[in-house]
Amino acid sequence: MAEEKDQVGKILYTQSAITKRAKEICAQIDKDYEGEEVILLGSLKGSVMWLVDIMKYTTIDTKIDFITASSYGSSTTSSGVVKISYEPQTNMYNKNILIVEDIVDTGNTLKYLISKLNERGPKSIKVCTMLDKKARRTTDIKPDYIGFDVEDFFIIGYGLDYDQRFRDLPYIAYLEEDDVESI
Ligand code: PRP
Repeated sequence: MAEEKDQVGKILYTQSAITKRAKEICAQIDKDYEGEEVILLGSLKGSVMWLVDIMKYTTIDTKIDFITASSYGSSTTSSGVVKISYEPQTNMYNKNILIVEDIVDTGNTLKYLISKLNERGPKSIKVCTMLDKKARRTTDIKPDYIGFDVEDFFIIGYGLDYDQRFRDLPYIAYLEEDDVESI
């Protein structure tokens, strides 16, 4: 049998807590979009695990695509500068777009992303984020579906990284200074 990964940081949400919450959110998404087709637009790279959950547990007709919009460098704080380095190829005219994010922090990334996607004439744009760090918000962005509210911690796991590491952890955790010193 495969060995488990070593635990990193302090666990906030286990795999089973995340699965339970994803199923609740997907039930709401199914209700809200009943009879409609939705393009799940994963914001790379952080959203991968959460996107898979949303794909898996919704029963409505979905298609997927990805966009890469980054506002962070390799440091632990947001630079506020947003760059799009991968544009989705899907035709979005008159389509329902559900942007799937791992975390909303300042909201800069989403604000820019939504304004760019609006140029494609979609029928609707909504946001489903796994984590919402409201304490850091500097924009008027309000996600439509929120997995969990988190405090102003440095979060890793379930798609979120520290210098590209720890995206593979099957739980959501946070790093404190003593954790950072030991990794
Ligand atoms: C993270 C996250 C959001 C953004 C949130 O992406 O996935 O897109 O930052 O920050 P904001 O609300 O302050 O704009 P990141 O740029 O770290 O890229 P990644 O998903 O590849 O880790």
